[in-house]
Amino acid sequence: MTTSTIAVIDLDLPGATISRHVYGHFAEHLGRCIYGGFWVGEDSPVANVRGIRSDVVEALRAISIPNLRWPGGCFADDYHWRDGVGPRESRPRMVNSHWGDVVEDNAFGTHEFMDLCELLGADPYVSGNLGSGSVAEMSAWVEYLTRADDSPMAALRRANGREQPWRVPFWGLGNEAWGCGGNMRAEQFASLARQYATYCRNHGGNLLYRIAAGANEADLHWTETLMRSFDDLAADRAGSAGPFQAVSLHYYTMAGSWSDKGDATGFSTDQWYVTMARARRMEELLTRHSTVMDRYDPHRKVGLVVDEWGTWWNVEKGTNPGFLYQQNTLRDALVAAVHFDAFHRHAERVVMANIAQTVNVLQAMILTDPDSGALVLTPTYHVFAMNTGHHDAAALAVHLRGVETRAVGATELPLVSASASVKGDTALVSLSNLDAETDRTLVLDLRGRDVVGHTARVLTATALDAHNTPEQLDAVAPADHAGVHPHPRGLEVELPAHSYVTVALELR
Ligand code: AHR
Repeated sequence: MTTSTIAVIDLDLPGATISRHVYGHFAEHLGRCIYGGFWVGEDSPVANVRGIRSDVVEALRAISIPNLRWPGGCFADDYHWRDGVGPRESRPRMVNSHWGDVVEDNAFGTHEFMDLCELLGADPYVSGNLGSGSVAEMSAWVEYLTRADDSPMAALRRANGREQPWRVPFWGLGNEAWGCGGNMRAEQFASLARQYATYCRNHGGNLLYRIAAGANEADLHWTETLMRSFDDLAADRAGSAGPFQAVSLHYYTMAGSWSDKGDATGFSTDQWYVTMARARRMEELLTRHSTVMDRYDPHRKVGLVVDEWGTWWNVEKGTNPGFLYQQNTLRDALVAAVHFDAFHRHAERVVMANIAQTVNVLQAMILTDPDSGALVLTPTYHVFAMNTGHHDAAALAVHLRGVETRAVGATELPLVSASASVKGDTALVSLSNLDAETDRTLVLDLRGRDVVGHTARVLTATALDAHNTPEQLDAVAPADHAGVHPHPRGLEVELPAHSYVTVALELR
């Protein structure tokens, strides 16, 4: 059976700009994300540039990776940056107590991370240690990275082989301060964030965009406390956005509970729908946190940064439970698509989002085989690839009519998700059919500008848990979509069951 839905889009009413940074990434010293994922070392048989995997860099450049958050996550609040600079052989070791209780040798530190960002063409987002560090330590790290003259930290950087300062646009003040980042109360953290932010200085022309560790899921009190905390400072400094420029938010999608999150593969159709309903919750969270922020910042100068999001499943059998290695299927791809629709709709407030995590951890773009080193692009990667047209484009409102819903527990899950954007003479429409079983058609009612051409791509597979492996690299890969036809209102698009479709429009 096929059913029909209508999406009305006014192509001549561009909204807020969708920051390319909502397509941002996160890489933590966790499992095989850094070690074995990004970093193999100079002597590795895997092709590398100064120890950084060339194939990983190439794959991420192909999706125009805009930024990379590092070194955590929970790890960030245990990390002391001085341990990761200077000759590699003499760097001290530490225990990575959050993730597998393994010994970290600090081979990948500040210089390696900045080198990685330069190879990627991505903006660095450094997550500073507020949980177990000191104000002076964080302040010195900023100076080390960004100062040009002969200050003590700039001199140390030079002695370690880097003459010029780096540009560091994004700076995190702690991570999950309500949990692994110090088990703090909101009021306590808000005071500390003000203090730390003050000493994270703008050196020379480097302007830091400071991001205060934000709320877990629906903790509106946390967001409200942070917003209130710098309200008085903002009032004192006309034109300034206060000590920090953004607050963050973390939300992970699971099909089960925290103790049994559900498996990445072999899940039931019911679990598919539960997952989609949980992914849709991002929309509600953005609305609720934005509403709180609007009260204190009606002109939307303070950003909301979703610096951790994605699926979190039970680890793959036989892998270290502390390494958070999971398979990535068509279901993960649809979860990503639903999140991007929400980020696009909230473009006015959501300035950045970072999927957790880029390689070999949680909802990864890339999986690398620990034995052969083979690289696999996941279905999630392909959604990022199909959406590059949304980077820095103007959001377009998509008014959906006739969308069927399905009851999932107490919520009604709309079975179609959509968003759109326009940049010059091209528009991109993203369409997800979240229905596990039913194909549907959707009519794009396109108004305001003439559509003179179109191309379309589709991402789907027979099985809901289809995924790519070293043996089958393209089991889930985008293909040209022939199912787009002229319609009196615009275009009619076939949406196979459990599929993601993008339609690129040429406009006049
Ligand atoms: O991404 C894995 C972990 O999830 C991060 O370290 C932490 O911030 C969050 O709880």
